[in-house]
Amino acid sequence: MTKEYIQQLKIKNDSSFANLVNENLSNVGNLSFILGNIGHIQKGFDYSWLLELLDYDNETIRVLVLKNLGKVKSTNLIQVFYNVINSDKSTLVKREAVSALGRLRNEQTKDILLKLLENEDPKIVCQAIRGLLVFKGEKQIDETLKKLLDHENEMVQSVIKKEYFSSAKNTKDRLKHPETYSFLKNVIVNADVLKALKYVPDESVHLTFTSPPYYNARDYSIYPSYEAYLQFLGKVFTETHRITKEGRFLIVNTSPVIVPRVSRAHSSKRYPIPFDLHAILVKGGWEFIDDIVWEKPEYSVKNRVGGFQQHRKPLGYKPNTITEYLMVYRKQTDKLLDWNIHQYDYDTVEKSKIKGDFDTNNIWQICPKSDKIHPAVFPAELCKRVIQYYSYIGDLIFDPFAGSGTLGYVAKKLGRNFFLTEKDEKYFEYMKSYKREISDDEVKNTKFFTLEQFKESLK
Ligand SMILES: C[S@@+](CC[C@H](N)C(=O)[O-])C[C@H]1O[C@@H](n2cnc3c(N)ncnc32)[C@H](O)[C@@H]1O
Repeated sequence: MTKEYIQQLKIKNDSSFANLVNENLSNVGNLSFILGNIGHIQKGFDYSWLLELLDYDNETIRVLVLKNLGKVKSTNLIQVFYNVINSDKSTLVKREAVSALGRLRNEQTKDILLKLLENEDPKIVCQAIRGLLVFKGEKQIDETLKKLLDHENEMVQSVIKKEYFSSAKNTKDRLKHPETYSFLKNVIVNADVLKALKYVPDESVHLTFTSPPYYNARDYSIYPSYEAYLQFLGKVFTETHRITKEGRFLIVNTSPVIVPRVSRAHSSKRYPIPFDLHAILVKGGWEFIDDIVWEKPEYSVKNRVGGFQQHRKPLGYKPNTITEYLMVYRKQTDKLLDWNIHQYDYDTVEKSKIKGDFDTNNIWQICPKSDKIHPAVFPAELCKRVIQYYSYIGDLIFDPFAGSGTLGYVAKKLGRNFFLTEKDEKYFEYMKSYKREISDDEVKNTKFFTLEQFKESLK
């Protein structure tokens, strides 16, 4: 039996093909050779014998049968494929049936493919997406597929992202280093940061400065475990890495936190967030650059040392903590900082230069700021220093955990643009209402979006 012989029988298109198959029914090797060498299937080919092989007990044979049935391109087979998807036990066979359905590129397959988007097998979902992408551009299909960006499987997410949300497919379309997308400028999104970032193109922000939630030390953030909290931050900063421009900076303000004791019989627990976060950031492609210590006046912090002051017993020493870290990282690159700086024109570099006094060492003494609505706001002075030292005029500055939006406000004042996300509606509304000492025009220019509105704004 040769390939040529199989081709001859195929062209003859009489019972001799079915006879050959029947003769080899018990020989899986021969059968798969026949099925694998049928090649193109001409119009009018009698494929009825192939249907009978759909019950064959070897799954490779069933896959080959489906591959050939897919080439027949007949809408009469829609029901056949559908039955296989619903009844075959092998996921490989099911996937091939979905693929065959998709290859029909026919309107009548749409409903079945749409239903398959709910399948538990992510590969089937991906095959169904492929089939539906034939109808890309149709409103219902596009809307349904775009929603899959929130699918729990990363493979599904990445297909959708590539099809609908990928920016700058090649370097030609890439924005110049100092530029960013206008739909991100001066925008505040009321959403979970991970959901919002799905819609943010690669390499669009110049600087991120943020103070993440303090594990479970405040009521606005509850995580099932410290591990889950760190994993969450890992995801946020990996996404931040993706949206950060080459060689640009991430500065994270953290400090160890205390989760209060459950009762007098237990002790409170201290979590070393900056030290645990460091390894996660480095693994995520961030290069460690500096640790800056933010020092607060002692009168402004909680008095922890009071007990010791009384009893003076060793082991019971708990100093007042007057410092927090600013952990400085750069998106890993082979390029030197000079490369980044040379991307800006002469005027921008001149205007962005830091005038007068500046911090000569890594201890910055700044008073904390309290706020009536938000329990942990950045002092504007801290934002000012970070923005001035780590960005240029016109840059886009990002805060994934915006809170009361201090960073955005200061960024604007310093001639930069901001993009903020904040999950809590209370703080989002606060940002909207807040009467900051900023000109009305600038307030008017800020766009406050729900996640849906943000998605709409990208169209
Ligand atoms: C430490 S505060 C930041 C305060 C901010 N630096 C300021 O100046 O107001 C952290 C903020 O992150 C927000 N947050 C917590 N989880 C979030 C998430 N998954 N997505 C977006 N924001 C979140 C909290 O609601 C809180 O307002």
